[in-house]
Amino acid sequence: MSQETNPTPSLAELLDGDLDPSVLPKDAVIAMDGPAGSGKSTTARYLADRYGLVYIDTGAMYRALTWAALDAGTDLSSESSLVALLEANRLEFQPARGEARILWNGGDVSAQIRRPEVDAAVSEVSSHAAVRAEMVARQQQMGRNGGVVMEGRDIGSVVFPLATAKIFLTASLEDRARRRFKQNQQRGVEVDPADLQADLAERDRMDSSRETSPLTISPDAIVIDSSGMSLDQQNRACAHACLVNPTLDLTVDRDLDRSKAEMPFSYRLAYAVFGALARFYGMKYVNCGRQAMPRGCIAAINHVSYWDPPLVGATFLRYRVNSIAKEELFRPWPAGAILRWFDVIPIRRKGYDKTAFDAATSSLQAGNSIQFYPEGTRRAIGHPGPVRNGLGILVQATRAPVQPIFIRGSYGRQPLGSTISPLEVSYGPLLRWHGVDALLERIDRKEVSRRIAKLCEAAFVELQARSFARMPETEWERKTGELQLRKFASRQKRVFGP
Ligand code: DC
Repeated sequence: MSQETNPTPSLAELLDGDLDPSVLPKDAVIAMDGPAGSGKSTTARYLADRYGLVYIDTGAMYRALTWAALDAGTDLSSESSLVALLEANRLEFQPARGEARILWNGGDVSAQIRRPEVDAAVSEVSSHAAVRAEMVARQQQMGRNGGVVMEGRDIGSVVFPLATAKIFLTASLEDRARRRFKQNQQRGVEVDPADLQADLAERDRMDSSRETSPLTISPDAIVIDSSGMSLDQQNRACAHACLVNPTLDLTVDRDLDRSKAEMPFSYRLAYAVFGALARFYGMKYVNCGRQAMPRGCIAAINHVSYWDPPLVGATFLRYRVNSIAKEELFRPWPAGAILRWFDVIPIRRKGYDKTAFDAATSSLQAGNSIQFYPEGTRRAIGHPGPVRNGLGILVQATRAPVQPIFIRGSYGRQPLGSTISPLEVSYGPLLRWHGVDALLERIDRKEVSRRIAKLCEAAFVELQARSFARMPETEWERKTGELQLRKFASRQKRVFGP
């Protein structure tokens, strides 16, 4: 068997084509963080324009307070005086096309807040916890309905930890100083380049070392180092980064308690048994937390063993999830009766079974989720895919989001568990289909199904590679995991890099 290459493209690569840019939800929140002078403002404005979002510059809010404090002679080390100043006056951020305006008591201070004396004092002002708490509350209020690209230092880490996409834009100190110098020249502000570089270094130090929400890289942020990139490359890289995971669902957990109360006895019993089975085998749950799967979604699972449904079922916990199973399983008595008790939908595997698809569609539309094995049958271990067209048909009929789930180590389990290989269920990012309508105007339904299948396959392969790299059981798994992760990384670099 050749394990050398796998032709499945990465999610980034797939999204870098025709699904762009309509895959970005209109209520997206793009968090853009990074050090001073990294080009955040320019690129955030570009993203706002490209995706139809409102641009919010949180640095300008800290700058406006700093300007007002300098103007009023307020002691910059006094937290309470600064908060009092902020509360006693009207600070407004007016988003607009091009340069957004910042108003202090109705007066436009957009130019004043860029002066060198503000540059020098703003780090101190923004280091006070109470000042930050007030600013963060205002920023959360501004972005509460989504549709924003917000730039700052703590947007992904503090202001919107559930942002649709988090970008950390950085560049070398020299590059940043050069860009700031040019920017200042255009604004008619004269500063010595050496002073400017020293000042930037000092602000980096203060922003990163302050106690309250320092400048840090969120673990789930995409880091883009724009040193040596042209502005166009930087913009393009960030535009792609927005689309890598445009899927996070902020509303996932709202219905949880209701769905728990609605759960029939059969489900509660089954989940108790599945949970016990998973515990018995020492199964690991990766990213299967409470937030993992919304209602009304298709849980797309790779298939290697008859143990997959109960073991993956253990991760559903409180959701009512219908399953689809081949009709042969219903034949022996009393299997049919038991499966029907659990609302399992029988499917004929040859050709297209309209009755089964209609039943699955109604179930999804009623807000249930569906457990679905899109490869259609059990596959060889270590080689997920190919995904068949059924998944795409179901997605096109319902627009239901797809939750890719990868199970590893279920094959060869005995009822009394003699196997010691790692058993693990991991969830990938939810796939949503905001771009499908636009795509259908250009390509036919079959091709759309094929692309949806490719996305799901790519998700399986990526989840497998991460699992192998985390817990290699054999030399082959270690090598395959590392090779595939390197390939994903180099593809990302190709997509995001210069
Ligand atoms: O992005 P900028 O240079 O305009 O930011 C000005 C200062 O404000 C910077 O020194 C750090 C601070 N800041 C912050 O602490 N948190 C934010 N969300 C935005 C800016």
